[in-house]
Amino acid sequence: MSWGLKNRLARIIKPADGRTVMLAVDHGYFLGPTSRLEDPRKTIEPILNDADTLMLTRGVLRNCVDADTATPIVLRVSGGTSIIGPSLADEGITTSMREAVRLNAVGVALSIFVGTQYERQTLLNLSKLVSKGEGIGMPVLAVTAVGKELKKRDARYLALCCRIAAELGAHIVKTYYCEDFEKVVAGCPVPVVIAGGPKLDNELDALKLAADAIKRGAVGVDMGRNIWQSDYPMAMIKAVRAVVHQNATPEEAYDLFASLKSEPVG
Ligand code: 5RP
Repeated sequence: MSWGLKNRLARIIKPADGRTVMLAVDHGYFLGPTSRLEDPRKTIEPILNDADTLMLTRGVLRNCVDADTATPIVLRVSGGTSIIGPSLADEGITTSMREAVRLNAVGVALSIFVGTQYERQTLLNLSKLVSKGEGIGMPVLAVTAVGKELKKRDARYLALCCRIAAELGAHIVKTYYCEDFEKVVAGCPVPVVIAGGPKLDNELDALKLAADAIKRGAVGVDMGRNIWQSDYPMAMIKAVRAVVHQNATPEEAYDLFASLKSEPVG
């Protein structure tokens, strides 16, 4: 691994504890102006400094994030589909490696859709991206997406997806939490982070999800909706940080959340 690639990886996964709180705000690339992300700047600004990295598309980065931010950027570089189109899985590479470098990204992210008719296409896209990333010192985060057509999220399926992503060279894999999650991590030789998924009924459930994932081997979260769809996103991201970086129990983190939530946003 080149020095540049290692250095960029260290800006995603914090060397002090080997953990990360990635903030995902890339949802608009297929969902459009989804709830609480209608005005990305308004959503991102209050919580940006508490994120170890920000994951988003080049369009939202350029238009909604000031260039003097200290938060490292992971750029989503796959897409080309929409929630109303024939298949979410039919993704291509949308953004060049040159653009990622120009935007000073510390990593690029691409979804793979294992088990769909587009698995070959998206897996070969991952391979190409990794080859380019290795050439230039840019880490690649593979997202094991499930799309509309794939409801299966058990350990057997997710372990298959994560392992394939790692075999093709991904430097980090993002997947979903599931029962027997430790089996997913055990079969994947690169660090695993979890997505939060759709907004859960309450913040304690989302903190339990993060804590369970960490306990079973995840190095952190790449979480979106369970942070910024909370009525108290600033309190929620701090509570998630407590779980990830301080090994707080969900209950301890929830107490922190409750004590901080007196300052609602929006
Ligand atoms: C979509 C993504 C999203 O960034 C991801 O799902 C994370 O956000 P959330 O915690 O809201 O699920 O990668 O493929």
